[in-house]
Amino acid sequence: MDFSLRIVERLPRYLQLACHLKEQGHEFISSSILSKHFFIDQNNIKKDLSFLNLNGKPNKGYEINEFISAVKMVLGTTTVNRAIVIGAGNLGRAVSNYSNFSNYGLKIVALFDDSPEKIGSSVESFKILPLDNLSEVITTLGVKIAILTIPAQGATKVAGLLYKLGIRYFWNFAPLHLKLPDDAIVKNENLAASYMFLSYQINLNNYRNNGGKIEMVNGDIEKRIYEAFNKYAKSRDNLIPILQDVQDVRGYISKDDIKKISEYLGIADSKVYGVATFYNQFKLIPPGHFQISVCRGTACHVKGSLNILNSLKDHLKVEIGQTTRDKIFSLQQVACLGACSIAPVMMINDKFYGHLDVAKTLSIVDKLKADYLSEKEAAKTSGAASA
Ligand code: FES
Repeated sequence: MDFSLRIVERLPRYLQLACHLKEQGHEFISSSILSKHFFIDQNNIKKDLSFLNLNGKPNKGYEINEFISAVKMVLGTTTVNRAIVIGAGNLGRAVSNYSNFSNYGLKIVALFDDSPEKIGSSVESFKILPLDNLSEVITTLGVKIAILTIPAQGATKVAGLLYKLGIRYFWNFAPLHLKLPDDAIVKNENLAASYMFLSYQINLNNYRNNGGKIEMVNGDIEKRIYEAFNKYAKSRDNLIPILQDVQDVRGYISKDDIKKISEYLGIADSKVYGVATFYNQFKLIPPGHFQISVCRGTACHVKGSLNILNSLKDHLKVEIGQTTRDKIFSLQQVACLGACSIAPVMMINDKFYGHLDVAKTLSIVDKLKADYLSEKEAAKTSGAASA
């Protein structure tokens, strides 16, 4: 199974929410719940989950135990991975003794430091070991992961030593970007950057309390986009993940987003625009009021989903990934929507429509459009009357 890194980053959050909901007695979890909780476009959540091969129930979602098992299987948390912690300061001690890691298959087996004052003393169940013992511990205990909770100074040297001793997986809390050979996987945790998101919010509230204009941030979307930026270092290498996150939040990438990304990364607008237009996955125009997702999974394909998709393309005069000129509909195809029992299926915004044929599909779409236009007309009339 080869999932994109973005999906792998999001799955743990889905898993934690599912475990939490299960504890509260929920029996199902749906893409709509995940979307609302994480502010991620529901269609992107569906794409993430389509790789899990789960069968969902229409309007209910996925059975929660199956969902948890499938995510755990993908994340490999059903097997135990041994790790060592390097750095027995406050953070290293806290990490070493965090018992919840065992729920996810992480077992910390030793704690190291190079300070003579700390070596030999005990932290809960760990005796702090000198770096000289690294080789022996890594080999005899089958350690796969090193967790670095040391200052930036010296982190590169220690990481290089660990690499030579066979460690290929690094969880790095040291405030620097580790440079290691390509076969090393490094997950950096930038605590300072995370704090800066909060400091931004404090600043913003102070600004508001001092009579500043609230439009300084255009509501939740802009805050979430700011948060998306902050997850990434200011490096050109992060252009695509930032574009992906911004699209997840807004549903598309606006001209203003392109400008902000170019300022954040210090690269020309034209470069950002060039990358955003090169990849099909990025949309530069707002999605329609109704987002139609036609399922093209196997069960739906067998039952004629291609005809349905083609009839929608003809009827709405759009291609896949496009929005109608009146901005009412966007059309896309997706992998299994988890409702195979009512195949062929499409989803429009949050709602499933099953057992489709071409006539039924087009009448659903036409009715939605008629209702939408008459609601709009009624709102205009009542607005004019009260003016
Ligand atoms: S809903 Fe499963 S293949 Fe379409």
